[in-house]
Amino acid sequence: MTMQTDPVGGLRLGLNIDHVATVRNARGGAYPDPLRAAKLAEAAGVDGITAHLREDRRHMTDADIDALMAHLSIPLNFEMAATDEMQQIALRHKPHAVCLVPEKREERTTEGGLEVAREENRIAHFIAPLQDAGCRVSIFIAADQHQIEAAARIGAPVVELHTGAYCDAHAEGRFDERDAELSRLAEMAALALDLGLEVHAGHGLTYDTVKPIAAFPEVKELNIGHFIIGEAIFSGLDSAIRRMRHLMDEARREMRDIGIA
Ligand code: PXP
Repeated sequence: MTMQTDPVGGLRLGLNIDHVATVRNARGGAYPDPLRAAKLAEAAGVDGITAHLREDRRHMTDADIDALMAHLSIPLNFEMAATDEMQQIALRHKPHAVCLVPEKREERTTEGGLEVAREENRIAHFIAPLQDAGCRVSIFIAADQHQIEAAARIGAPVVELHTGAYCDAHAEGRFDERDAELSRLAEMAALALDLGLEVHAGHGLTYDTVKPIAAFPEVKELNIGHFIIGEAIFSGLDSAIRRMRHLMDEARREMRDIGIA
């Protein structure tokens, strides 16, 4: 599937719509409809939609994934745990991309990256049929050298670097830690690219934290959900998406102007 927009410097925005489903599920019923959000996001210029089907179906449901697959014309990035059940669902739908994430029942959100280094064999076998089916497999990992090297060894084409620690440090005013996280992310994005991996990033990004990450020349895609869906309450989804897109493009342009991107 081809991209519909030409983002500055090739940086794509994937909108995670899980929390549209969270709001719907708070009451049951059909409103607000994640597919409607996805179509609106498509019109606002996002490059893809991300949806995480959790084992407990706390937000997206199987029917949501069916609807997205049937009606989206931009790529779907299907986030899932590395379980047999999810593998079967992915193989049935063959979405454009599959992003493997760790999943714990008790967590509120995806807390860390996937442990690939200690589970190299299992993950290598797990992704093989998905890749054979034409899905672009991405692995959500911490910005950690061992995880990145393991992802490259098993032949995953893409890694998504977890930006949560950087965003949390910023939100809590721990600016030295934030800057250290940012340096680590920059170093690990460069390593991943050197190893031939496509680099994505995401988790916890906001208007305040997106630009330094968007400025990394190695990063090809940001996946952002909770903040944009939250902002949509105040400014509307279209406006929240356009503002995030604007900040990403601005960061990219600023780097290009000084000759980095
Ligand atoms: N990328 C991955 C792999 C995720 O699991 C999530 C959260 O579901 C996101 C990006 C988006 O994070 P947030 O909702 O905090 O923007």
